[in-house]
Amino acid sequence: MREWTKEERYRVLQSPEEIRGLFDKISKSVYRQTYHVQPVTGLSSDPNGFAFHKGIWHLFYQWCPWGAVHGLKYWYHVTSKDLIHWKNEGIGLKPDCYYDNKGNHSGSAISADDELYFFYTGNHRDENWVRTPYTCAAKLGEDGKPVKFSRPLFGPRGDYSEHQRDPKVFYNAQKKMYYIFIGAQSLDKRGCVLVYQSEKLEEGWSFAGELKVLGYENFGGMWECPCIERIDGKDVLIFSPQYTKLPGRSESTNHNVYLIGSMDYDTLTFTPESDYRYLDFGFDFYAAQLAANAGNQDKTIIIAWIGLPDNHYPTEEEDWEGSMTLPRELRIRDGRLVQTPITGIESLREQELLADGILDAACEMQVSVGDGDFDLNLFTTADGNGGMTLHYDAKTKTCTVDRSKLAKRFNESVGEVLDMPLENKLTSLRIFIDHSSVEIFANDGEATFTSHVYPTENEHNYTVSDNGAVKIWSLRASVKDDFVI
Ligand code: FRU
Repeated sequence: MREWTKEERYRVLQSPEEIRGLFDKISKSVYRQTYHVQPVTGLSSDPNGFAFHKGIWHLFYQWCPWGAVHGLKYWYHVTSKDLIHWKNEGIGLKPDCYYDNKGNHSGSAISADDELYFFYTGNHRDENWVRTPYTCAAKLGEDGKPVKFSRPLFGPRGDYSEHQRDPKVFYNAQKKMYYIFIGAQSLDKRGCVLVYQSEKLEEGWSFAGELKVLGYENFGGMWECPCIERIDGKDVLIFSPQYTKLPGRSESTNHNVYLIGSMDYDTLTFTPESDYRYLDFGFDFYAAQLAANAGNQDKTIIIAWIGLPDNHYPTEEEDWEGSMTLPRELRIRDGRLVQTPITGIESLREQELLADGILDAACEMQVSVGDGDFDLNLFTTADGNGGMTLHYDAKTKTCTVDRSKLAKRFNESVGEVLDMPLENKLTSLRIFIDHSSVEIFANDGEATFTSHVYPTENEHNYTVSDNGAVKIWSLRASVKDDFVI
């Protein structure tokens, strides 16, 4: 693992030419994805500013140009017309003001009054490295690039810790009010959400209070990337609690959870109607962001970072890391969120392959599962050994995924075995494999499992137990990996 100095990590990009060599180098990697959004160079982490505006989907990701390291963060911009085909648009936000001198941290977008507004965290640090997070705004300009407001909207509150960031902006029609949720930490290190409100997007923001989330007064040490959306008549609150271990998540201290309930804007109280649940049961899924009501279709779309803070991945050696999940559609079924891959993704199917035990580097697999226990081993060697194993135990209705038998192991210390418990018996799996990631949708989206995976040349086979019927297609590329800075 390479050691980076602070100067190297926080270097300001002066010219695209400084990273062209890196782009050329990583383009040759066998782990570059072909239908997932990934960093043009360096590292991508959280999805940001995800919104539909004037017929185009805009998405940004937290981007550190220099390598697989969390340093100076930019927002890198990609666009799509269908959430399937994406193109690189270049830098969206760059840290070039005093209030964001050490990075444009995460945030959201809203399409309103014919404009697309962005709200993000300006990560300021002084010469003693003391942090002041500002909530800042920008607006999409005529040339398709965000233009920053000249001043931040507001600074941090003194009665919370320095961890106040990741503004999620939204409008509440009943209150005729815009709101911003800020992920935060109290002085005694409880994770929480701060609420700001304004009648106008561009000005007038005032602190409304801390969000009361009943039963969650002491749950994790910092809530990153909060987000709220109305889905199928309910309020859904999602956030990424940190600095805590949670049941079923092995040694990991970074999670992404949701609560279904109701939000009272008079008392700023969110009342959950059931316990928290994991958005995804896999190893690598974090900082999910929602975008709603796209193109009159009244759909909510979720996208997340395939990766976790403080974790390390084998492509670090190649100076890049991270990727976005596939966009997924969200619904509520039987009191739970259900996630299905974006409608139309089938259009990427190139050809149906023989179900002969060989995987394609970019493929979709559908498995119908019969009664009883079931096994599916992905990325095995030709003799059927090793790989990432999925075992379904019919008695407990639980899938257990083990990635410890892959040749390239990583993040062993946070755990290499995780369970995906199901409500119903397992009847189907839909699996998307793309060079260095795998996303598993069980029972038509009842539960999902997302993981990075770095198969070697000898690990492109699979085995399946007799009660599984497999269909498999190779998938076409849909993300243009152009050098646009
Ligand atoms: C989550 C996060 C955010 C922050 C951003 C910085 O992964 O830590 O809270 O804004 O990443 O890159």
